[in-house]
Amino acid sequence: MTRSAEISARKAARADLDALVALECATFETDRISRAQWRRHIASDSACVLVAGVRGGVDGAAVVFHRRNSRRARLYSLAVAASARGNGLAKALLAAAEAEAVRRGCEALYLEVGVGNRGAIALYESQGYRRAVRLQGFYEDGTDAWRYTRRLAAP
Ligand SMILES: CC(C)(COP(=O)(O)OP(=O)(O)OC[C@H]1O[C@@H](n2cnc3c(N)ncnc32)[C@H](O)[C@@H]1OP(=O)(O)O)[C@@H](O)C(=O)NCCC(=O)NCCS
Repeated sequence: MTRSAEISARKAARADLDALVALECATFETDRISRAQWRRHIASDSACVLVAGVRGGVDGAAVVFHRRNSRRARLYSLAVAASARGNGLAKALLAAAEAEAVRRGCEALYLEVGVGNRGAIALYESQGYRRAVRLQGFYEDGTDAWRYTRRLAAP
């Protein structure tokens, strides 16, 4: 597959629910976001759900949480369908998540990633994220996570 200029991320809508649930089930074995949680996150002011697709579909999604009075946003989830990987979708979603965090006045974005998730770790490090602490037994299956963080530049 070739990288495409057609990729752009947008905010998710209720109409994306089925696609988001399908993507979540296909991507993650544990710690899945349920349909009810997706619905809540899409409607919530403190969450930002972004979707992106190779040709306008929903092949990838990101969820960012914002807390009132906090200058740090948290990238809670990032997933791209196996069939759409390697096209820059995650990069586009990450850039959109960062732009939204800056728009909301945040100075940093942080995230957790499984210590064995080499692809995602390579992605985050290539995008300027720095490794912080190791979180023991972070995931439902007992796996440890690394916390990564990136300072965001003001527009
Ligand atoms: C990790 C994931 C989101 C990457 O999505 P993607 O759309 O394929 O990533 P991109 O095409 O935007 O990649 C951007 C850069 O990240 C790095 N990267 C992404 N996946 C990589 C992999 N498997 N191995 C090495 N580097 C990788 C590369 O530097 C890549 O740039 P390049 O293609 O120019 O070399 C995707 O593989 C995925 O959804 N995995 C399963 C869920 C998951 O692990 N989510 C993260 C949880 S914290």
